[in-house]
Amino acid sequence: MKIGILTSGGDCPGLNAVIRGAVLKGIKSHGHEFVGFRDGWRGLVEGDVMDLPRHSVRGISKQGGTILGTSRTNPFGPDGGPEVVRGHLERLGVGAVIAIGGEGTLAAAQRLTGAGLNIIGVPKTVDNDLDATDYTFGFDTAVQIATEAIDRLRTTGESHHRCMIAEVMGRNTGWIALHAGMASGAHAILIPEQQVSMDQVTEWVTDAHKRGRAPLVVVAEGFVPEGADTAHSHRGLDAFGRPRLGGIADRLAPEIEARTGLETRATVLGHIQRGGVPTAYDRVLSTRLGMAAADAAAAGAWGTMVALRGTDIVRTGFADALGKLKTVPEARYEEAAVLFG
Ligand code: F6P
Repeated sequence: MKIGILTSGGDCPGLNAVIRGAVLKGIKSHGHEFVGFRDGWRGLVEGDVMDLPRHSVRGISKQGGTILGTSRTNPFGPDGGPEVVRGHLERLGVGAVIAIGGEGTLAAAQRLTGAGLNIIGVPKTVDNDLDATDYTFGFDTAVQIATEAIDRLRTTGESHHRCMIAEVMGRNTGWIALHAGMASGAHAILIPEQQVSMDQVTEWVTDAHKRGRAPLVVVAEGFVPEGADTAHSHRGLDAFGRPRLGGIADRLAPEIEARTGLETRATVLGHIQRGGVPTAYDRVLSTRLGMAAADAAAAGAWGTMVALRGTDIVRTGFADALGKLKTVPEARYEEAAVLFG
């Protein structure tokens, strides 16, 4: 069978390892052939395709980004829809699609499966917010990058006796903030799942300062301070209709400075968290997911996605990944908060 692969939504360290895992396993164990659709669903909607022979995936698991390119194109946009997609697949002789993407991508994959197309999903997001899988690939790398950056902010903060605020990604969840904040020994971690008053933040920052430390605050981009207008975080919508977030650190800095009298600087880490080489953990997880996706295609398990449960890779329905945000449990936050201040 000829299988098409696409990577859709925000890029994520480990995408290339998924592609390599699927192509090598598919060729070696099942005799599949592979093509790649360029730039996510756009490639499928426009029939923009490239061959993926075995040599094309050589050595790519350590490369960041995606050799296929990605976009936030919605396949149900004005030029798309199941009949357009079906037409391209038939013309190209492609019998199935492995779609690697986040919630928006998997929702589109589910709709296309409902229209009779053969799709296997691979969940992807640095945010680690998909309920159907214990960890998403790319998350470990994002946490590693954020931790290294925050460690650097700490030394400059200490030199200048400043309070430093680091804003990390995570969309509407605080997984990256929680893990990078714990790893770097932050004096406060602020996440969307937990309401924290500015009085409490002030107390944590002041306590750290009194002990001679340069206070370090890690804030998730989706955090909304108690009593604040949530509209501040909306910077328009992406192709899947979700608000773009960010900018909370710049809002917090003057407020913390005014309340504590400490010179305060904000740093938004932004897309650096998604760039560069994946960690070894992410390469292994991604490779295993890719291999499992090729196996699922060989088994004709259409409408399923592969996921991590404990240390096993399992198959699960798209519905398991949709509509249920995996948020940071309160107990995990409280565990970390013991160390704040
Ligand atoms: O979902 C991954 C993510 O990196 C979020 O953490 C962030 O809010 C968003 O994508 C950024 O999207 P874009 O790359 O389109 O700016």
